[in-house]
Amino acid sequence: MKPYKLSDKTKKQEITEMFDNISPKYDFLNHFMSAGIDILWRRKLIRMLAKDKPLTILDIATGTGDLAFAAVKLKPQHITGVDISSKMIEIAKTKVTKRGFKDIIDMQVGDSEKLNFKDNSFDAVTVGFGVRNFEDLNLGLTEMLRVTKPKGCALILEFSKPHVFPVKQLFRLYSKYGIPLIGRSISKDDFAYKYLPESVAEFPEATAFEKIMLDVGYTNVSSTRLTFGVATIYRGYK
Ligand SMILES: C[S@@+](CC[C@H](N)C(=O)[O-])C[C@H]1O[C@@H](n2cnc3c(N)ncnc32)[C@H](O)[C@@H]1O
Repeated sequence: MKPYKLSDKTKKQEITEMFDNISPKYDFLNHFMSAGIDILWRRKLIRMLAKDKPLTILDIATGTGDLAFAAVKLKPQHITGVDISSKMIEIAKTKVTKRGFKDIIDMQVGDSEKLNFKDNSFDAVTVGFGVRNFEDLNLGLTEMLRVTKPKGCALILEFSKPHVFPVKQLFRLYSKYGIPLIGRSISKDDFAYKYLPESVAEFPEATAFEKIMLDVGYTNVSSTRLTFGVATIYRGYK
């Protein structure tokens, strides 16, 4: 699924354009629309990563860097953030400087489906709300596995769908009407926050996503549902 549905552009081109467009309002909208729960989800992922004690972390689709910043808590030697949108990376870089993390975090423009790193480079690879936007999910996951060290892990945070009454019904209403309305009026992008719930609705979740990870080659794959299933953290090892 493409955000703007323009026939002459690839999903990757449209996604890059969309995140470039919404970058100035991205952080505000994230926290506002989730009432700050997105911050707790990223923290949860970092707590789950703690037991693996990674020294080197790659945060793919890092956006404005919030998951990379949360990973500082683990006191790794180095964190690298990569994103295809240069405008998102600009904001991430400004935040790195402001927060005094220049020695530990490095932010780069890059494509998750063609990572510019050698095989077996990182102890852990993380992705927050990024895999749903990949043009080729299998290729993105394969590239993540390639750059992960043997026995290293991948932790993926992604939206999923709640299945329990009344959360399921409320979430559906909020997704259909609330998110596009708030998103459009604040970001001034007519399509980005319509694409968000639509792409969540069609994206594989739970055992379907676990199976994709297993097929790509991850082992010990598991998932943890968060907030009635509104989001899920997937874990897999190399
Ligand atoms: C919803 S944002 C998530 C940002 C951040 N990880 C977070 O937790 O807020 C998704 C990000 O994925 C990036 N992205 C999409 N496709 C990508 C690709 N092929 N390679 C790298 N980044 C990509 C977008 O540019 C965008 O910044």
